[in-house]
Amino acid sequence: MVVLGIETSCDETSAAIVNDEKILSNIITTQVIHEEYGGVVPEFASRAHVKQLVPIIKIALEKANVTLKDIDGIAVTYGPGLAGSLLIGLCVAKGLSLSLKIPFIGVNHIEGHILAVAANNPDMVYPFIALVASGGHTILVYIEKPFSYKIVGQTIDDAAGEAFDKVAKMLGLGYPGGPIIEKVAREGKESAINFPRALMDQDNLDFSFSGLKTSVLYYVQKKKQHVSFSVADVAASFQKAVVDVLVEKSSRALGLYQSDHLVLAGGVIRNARLCTAFKNMCKEQHIHLDIPTPVLCTDNAGMVARAGHLRLQRGERSDYSLDVAPNLSLDALI
Ligand code: KG4
Ligand code: ZN
Repeated sequence: MVVLGIETSCDETSAAIVNDEKILSNIITTQVIHEEYGGVVPEFASRAHVKQLVPIIKIALEKANVTLKDIDGIAVTYGPGLAGSLLIGLCVAKGLSLSLKIPFIGVNHIEGHILAVAANNPDMVYPFIALVASGGHTILVYIEKPFSYKIVGQTIDDAAGEAFDKVAKMLGLGYPGGPIIEKVAREGKESAINFPRALMDQDNLDFSFSGLKTSVLYYVQKKKQHVSFSVADVAASFQKAVVDVLVEKSSRALGLYQSDHLVLAGGVIRNARLCTAFKNMCKEQHIHLDIPTPVLCTDNAGMVARAGHLRLQRGERSDYSLDVAPNLSLDALI
């Protein structure tokens, strides 16, 4: 089965083609217009999707060496995300489905992130714990069998990626913050500042990053009044605090659910310092660790195409009355 995937939930316009084994093409454009505003401007995002989506689908078909006639189904993100942006992808998917007389399936963006690791290797081994750390989400999920998602921990305020973005803004480093903080942190000392690790003493799997963000703000404000400070040290110490919490809570989830298999997902997983920490923890604890390739961590249609492919293959179809669901939860899939 050959599936066209479409992803327009935020500021990436992406189209991909997958077959039963692997991704044949995965074209992603990141909208640069948001950089000057220090965050995503929803209306600009929708307008850019309108302009870019059809040309990107054409490129994805060409790169995969297939035509629309070869496509057996369409997978499209219908939530969570920005309503106006999701609408563009969903409408294009419905139009193509209707004209080509092939089924389409609405995909939960978070399921897409989790299944990114299966994009080029659909035979996943279950059960496993997944950590999804992106700009909008930080959740720990227990996945006992295919399509069965139990959220066992989540952030009670900011997402990990959001914290990276906000701290980068505070430090005047630009948007998106994650990659820039990672780069600047390479020159800094992780032990320079002892930023707080929230909820570590609590017997749950939840996260909180807003206190950490405020702590960085106070540190920067205080230092600015008296002396200059090292941006690299702040970046490195902040990054270490986020990594410590994510590793520790993931390790606890593995223990609690007696799982020896961890899957990482979401844009924050592109962080090399974070990957090293997870590799060390998993080696020590004899945990099998799966990390998607960097391009499959941030938003992309390859992960959406794979999630949709797996669902279409078991006979699932969406109805033309499907609406976008900006606040869609992973629980909705159970
Ligand atoms: O998964 P994603 O592309 O979009 C969402 O679904 O949100 O994640 C984007 C987030 C942004 O907050 C970005 O700053 C963060 O992932 N990110 C990183 C890195 N690369 C992207 N965070 C830390 N280190 C990175 N290298
Ligand atoms: Zn995402």
